[in-house]
Amino acid sequence: MSATEAQITAAGEVLRGGGLVAFPTETVYGLGGNALDAGAVRRIFAAKGRPADNPLIVHLAGADQLTQVVSRVTPLALELTRRWWPGPLTLVLDAHPDVPEVTRGGLSTIAVRVPDHPVALALLSAAGVPVAAPSANRSGRPSPTTAADVVTELGDRIDRVVDGGPSRLGVESTVVDARGERPVVLREGMVSREQLGVADRAAPAEAAASPGTRYRHYAPRCRVELAAPGRGATVAARIAASGRRVGLVGSGPAPPGVTEVARHEGAASLGAVLYRALRAGEEADVDVLVVEGVAEEGIGRAVMDRLRRAAHAGAGHSDHGSSR
Ligand code: TXA
Ligand code: MG
Repeated sequence: MSATEAQITAAGEVLRGGGLVAFPTETVYGLGGNALDAGAVRRIFAAKGRPADNPLIVHLAGADQLTQVVSRVTPLALELTRRWWPGPLTLVLDAHPDVPEVTRGGLSTIAVRVPDHPVALALLSAAGVPVAAPSANRSGRPSPTTAADVVTELGDRIDRVVDGGPSRLGVESTVVDARGERPVVLREGMVSREQLGVADRAAPAEAAASPGTRYRHYAPRCRVELAAPGRGATVAARIAASGRRVGLVGSGPAPPGVTEVARHEGAASLGAVLYRALRAGEEADVDVLVVEGVAEEGIGRAVMDRLRRAAHAGAGHSDHGSSR
């Protein structure tokens, strides 16, 4: 159920007062705090159990707030904001000196975006301050795409959850370095390389991936097995035959003896259900969740990136916990 205007206004006051508010965006739910208040940002890191060297994305109500957090708006940044904001594109730019070091994870740059969600935009306007917001999960867990999943993850550690219904896209924003003349993709996301015109471009050697991509991520409590496109039901049936409880997130119905956890029709629909399905697999108490993959093109790249990390990190994987 979507939040009322009064709830949004009250949540804006909580943010201004240094509190933590989880809120919906078009990608996933974020855990917000005043980006200019070092104490609030420290509480975000503590609530998530997030490593201090993994910086946060600052969310703005509009591009006109950019100069509050950024010291230099490049021509490329201007062009990208005009084309993509509000939307799932995060820009890395040189940070304004007023942005506390804790928000930047010790870097001299800052990541910033304007989310494309009416409740997020209303909340950001009500808050009147830039809002730092990582995904609202405990560190290492799948990102939440519903208010109920945020409550399960962080309910006892934060001041408020603003409900805006399920997230439409379901996979996080694309992070690009926009300091140069061409965008450099640091994290794949829901704006594709093709859409940015950099599909064939290898990142320059000096471009470090977003710090967050180094960490163990998206791990559900069940084992996740990745199946090739069109092969979900076959792989699930084979694993079920060995006596294990199997769930399927596939493009077709589950075979006998396999629990159907979710269905998808390609990259966008798998993206929209993936994180919820990882949680549904845990809730259904399956031993193995088989997820049928999609082609690695367009947003399929981002969806497969997250799926592979989940498959690598899920409980029972032989490398469990070693991919830090
Ligand atoms: O869609 C999204 O981006 C969601 C919603 C809530 O907006 N947010 C999100 O935040 O995914 P988080 O904290 O889970 O991921 C932020 C990513 C991390 O990989 C982090 O390392 C990277 O952005 N990042 C943040 N600041 C950066 C910077 N200055 N340079 C490079 N990467 C940065
Ligand atoms: Mg995250």
